[in-house]
Amino acid sequence: MKTKIAVLTSSQGKNTQKVVEKLKEFMPKSITLDSVDIDNSDGSELKKYKHLIMGVSTWFDGEIPYYWDEFLPSIEDQSFKSKKVAIYSLGDSKNYPDNFCDAIGILSEWLEKRGAKIIGYVPIDNYIFDTSYYLDNEQFKGLPIEYKVDGSDWEKKLANWSKQIIKEFNL
Ligand SMILES: Cc1cc2nc3c(=O)[nH]c(=O)nc-3n(C[C@H](O)[C@H](O)[C@H](O)COP(=O)(O)O)c2cc1C
Repeated sequence: MKTKIAVLTSSQGKNTQKVVEKLKEFMPKSITLDSVDIDNSDGSELKKYKHLIMGVSTWFDGEIPYYWDEFLPSIEDQSFKSKKVAIYSLGDSKNYPDNFCDAIGILSEWLEKRGAKIIGYVPIDNYIFDTSYYLDNEQFKGLPIEYKVDGSDWEKKLANWSKQIIKEFNL
């Protein structure tokens, strides 16, 4: 039987959606990624998953998009204690070096408060930026993706991260 992972994104995040399609290509055959569109979900289906991936872009000087702000209250009473969550954020280190992919920190902090175990940390070494919210020991608590940014090797980073999270999910 295939293992199912829920991957949460908003259909309003156009670039974030493109990355989900690529992520699906990188998954081994034994795993299915079930897409959850947070714009059309009350979050109740999350209860049946132990493994979650959340894709969120960073906007407006280090904020999560408003549709995430609207979605999170609908799942704030759920326990995430038995769940592992991997986060990726789209961002742009050249134009927003002071808030680079802050969404990773914002979301991971929110989830940790509710007991989730965040996996898929990535060292800051391969990125050039000034600050990013809530780093842990020189690591992002997820994967920054510079989609459509000149010179970005986001596909390679996503491929490596896919392997990393499968291991850390123990799948
Ligand atoms: C108005 C605006 C504000 C942005 N703010 C940030 C930011 O604070 N930090 C960051 O890393 N990227 C920032 N970005 C870059 C976006 O995250 C990036 O363009 C991303 O690909 C958008 O993905 P989406 O279409 O899925 O929302 C910003 C982009 C725009 C247009």
